[in-house]
Amino acid sequence: MTVNVGVIGVGMIGQDHIRRLTQVLSGARVSGVTDVDLARAQTVVDKIPGAQLYETGQDLINSDDVDAIVIASWGGTHEEYVLAGIAAGKQVFCEKPLATTKEACERILDAEVAAGRRLVMVGFMRRYDDGYRAMKETLDRGDIGAPLVFHSAHRNPAVPDSVTTEGVVVDTCVHDIDTSRWLLSSEVVAVQLLNPRRSSLAASQLQDPLILVLEMANGALVDIEAAVNIAYGRVSTPGGCRRIGGNASSAPTTSNSRNGSTPSRTATPPAPAPGTGTPPRWSPTPASRHPGQVRAPRCRCGSNPSCTGPTTPPWSTARSEQRNHDGENRAGPGDVPRGPLGRR
Ligand SMILES: NC(=O)c1ccc[n+]([C@@H]2O[C@H](COP(=O)([O-])OP(=O)(O)OC[C@H]3O[C@@H](n4cnc5c(N)ncnc54)[C@H](O)[C@@H]3O)[C@@H](O)[C@H]2O)c1
Repeated sequence: MTVNVGVIGVGMIGQDHIRRLTQVLSGARVSGVTDVDLARAQTVVDKIPGAQLYETGQDLINSDDVDAIVIASWGGTHEEYVLAGIAAGKQVFCEKPLATTKEACERILDAEVAAGRRLVMVGFMRRYDDGYRAMKETLDRGDIGAPLVFHSAHRNPAVPDSVTTEGVVVDTCVHDIDTSRWLLSSEVVAVQLLNPRRSSLAASQLQDPLILVLEMANGALVDIEAAVNIAYGRVSTPGGCRRIGGNASSAPTTSNSRNGSTPSRTATPPAPAPGTGTPPRWSPTPASRHPGQVRAPRCRCGSNPSCTGPTTPPWSTARSEQRNHDGENRAGPGDVPRGPLGRR
């Protein structure tokens, strides 16, 4: 049996899913695509034999030639398409975030429950990564006893100027929040947002880096460090072990705008200092960690012999590509307030 898949949103990750569906997976074909940028969608559909261009997401969802839907448009548009997919009784793979507000997520949950069957999967691909799975098995076996504290780091070389602090929480940290719930088998009961000294590489509206502290129902604490303009590479746990600064070539405490040293945001990322590991132009896209794709090669950082963190092939220097990396979506207007978010 062949599953006919329709793809909504054919930007960076949408095209990556199409590549996987057409070149890696068996039993599926891409039967349709759509995008608000119809010219882009046309370019994409032209390369997929037998695929049809749909003018709107609704048209695609309601097509008889579409059995399952991949939603890879911007986060703020997900709710509408997920709800339409559930209403049509079709399987939906929705890129993270499921939606950008708690209320929208609850509307989706309610709709799926009312539909009476599981139809929606969210693109939390870390759950399929070998390193994370090994960590999960270790924890579940009790090899290290009860986990008390979990450190999670999420770092990107750069993000576009349009990224907001809320966007970093909703679009970037959402991976770490999911990982925390999954690894620790416990729910989040309280969240605190802490704002460290701001990186001079961050756009003026962006609090970067930021730290989220999650209090889990079982008493464990999680700290999530999101630093999305580290300029010199990407690190995500497991295996992440790096200093964090606003400028790769200077010590963190001297690289921040608050103490006068202000490296240009547009400067070419400098080579890492000896011993700091991450090669320049280390791809920030963990594409290989999606289900069904070839396993990621292992970390070559060199700073820790036991490091098992994933790495990916060299990335393009094109700004347009840098803009599309995970966690750099521009969904969600406005910033989250400084200081504690308080209990839910
Ligand atoms: N799981 C992951 O690791 C991962 C990685 C990257 C991106 N993402 C998620 O995937 C989504 C897309 O990210 P991206 O980097 O590909 O962004 P992108 O900007 O490269 O592509 C998004 C595409 O969606 C289109 N679009 C926007 N609104 C639309 C609408 N209402 N209907 C149809 N198309 C619409 C845009 O025109 C664009 O072509 C985001 O939610 C992002 O968080 C997840």
